[in-house]
Amino acid sequence: MAENEEKLTETRHERRKRVFSGVQPSGSLHLGNYLGAIKQFVDLQNDNDCIYCIVDEHAITVPQDPKELRKHILDLAALYMAVGVDPEKSIIFVQSEVPGHAQLGWVLACSSYTGELFRMTQFKAKSGGKESVGTGLLVYPVLMAADILLYDTDIVPVGSDQKQHIELCRDIAIRVNNTIKKTFVVPDGRFMKEGARIMALDDPTQKMSKSNKNIHSSIALLDDANKIKKSIMKSVTDSEGIVRFDPDEKPGVSNLMNIYSVLSGESLDSIEEMYAGKGYGDFKKDLVGVVQKALAPIQERYNEIRYSEELLTTLHDGAEKANSIAERTMKRVYDTFGLGVPAKIVR
Ligand code: AMP
Ligand code: TRP
Repeated sequence: MAENEEKLTETRHERRKRVFSGVQPSGSLHLGNYLGAIKQFVDLQNDNDCIYCIVDEHAITVPQDPKELRKHILDLAALYMAVGVDPEKSIIFVQSEVPGHAQLGWVLACSSYTGELFRMTQFKAKSGGKESVGTGLLVYPVLMAADILLYDTDIVPVGSDQKQHIELCRDIAIRVNNTIKKTFVVPDGRFMKEGARIMALDDPTQKMSKSNKNIHSSIALLDDANKIKKSIMKSVTDSEGIVRFDPDEKPGVSNLMNIYSVLSGESLDSIEEMYAGKGYGDFKKDLVGVVQKALAPIQERYNEIRYSEELLTTLHDGAEKANSIAERTMKRVYDTFGLGVPAKIVR
C-alpha cells in the first residue's frame, strides 16, 4: 500500500501533467467539436503527456452500422491528425483496442449508484420520451470515468456540456480512494472559455450538434467552401442590425462573433469596432472568409492522411502505448478490489 501511495504521489508531482480526452466516432465533426474540445488538444500537447482516444465503445450506446462505424473511426483519427494532433507528441488510439477501458468500466459500475446515473442531464436528454432505453446509455458516464482514471489523468479538455460527467468521474474516484484504498488520481476538467459552447446556426438557443437534421444548422470541418458560405449567410440573427456581443439578447449574432473571434484571434471588442456602422451582411461575408481560411488547411491535411498506411500504423502504435499504461493501472485496481489470483498463496 505504501508503494502504491508513493506511486500516486509521484505521478501527481514529478511527471508532466497527463491529459486525456475522447471523441465519439459518430459522423463528421463540426465547429462546436473543434472549438469546444479538439482545438485544446493541440494546444496542450507541447507541455503535457497527452492521450487522445476515439471512443468507439461509447458510440455503440446507440445503434451503429458496423461498416460505417469502422469508417468513422478512421475519419476521426485522420481529423485528429489534420487539426494538428501529432503522433510524435501524443498518443492517438481507439478505445476498444485497449481492454482496460471495459474492465475498469465494470469495476467502476460497481462503485457508482444508479441514482447518480439517472440524474445525468445527457442521459435524460437522450432517453427522454423513449419506451425502451439501452443500458449502455445509462452507464455511459461510468465508461467515460474509466477512460479517464485508467491513465492517471490530471486534465480532461472537453466542451462545457461534459462538466457533469467529469464531476461524476471525480466523485467515483474520490469514493474509491476514501472507502477502499487510494487508487486513482482525481482529474480536473478543462473547459474552453470562448467557444466552449457553439450554438446552432439556425437556432442559437440550441447547441450545434451532429444530430440536428437541418444541414445548415452546423458547419462540418470537412464542409466545402460553398456549403460554409450558404450556412453562414442563412444563419439566424436579429432585427437590430448592430454587430454587438450580447448572448442573452442577441444569441445569433453573439454566436457568430464567438466563432469569428476564436478562429481569427480578434477580440470581441475589436470585432464590434470593425463592424460599427456596418450591417450583418458585411459581417457574415467576412465570417465566411474567416471560416474558409481556417478550415482549408485542415481539409488538405485530412485528404493526405485519411487513406494512408501511416494512419493504421499510428493507431496500432497508439494502442500499444496506451495498453502498457492501462495494464499497470488495472493491476493496481485489481489489487485494491482484491480481484484475481494473488501472487502467492494466501490463507
Ligand atoms: P460529441 O460530438 O458530443 O462526442 O462531442 C465531442 C466533444 O465536442 C465534446 O468534448 C463536447 O463537449 C464538444 N462539443 C460538442 N458539441 C459542442 C458545441 N456545440 N459547442 C462546444 N463544444 C461541443
Ligand atoms: N462523453 C464525451 C462526449 O460525448 C466523449 C468521451 C468519452 C470523453 N470518454 C471520454 C471525453 C473521456 C473526455 C474523456 O463528448
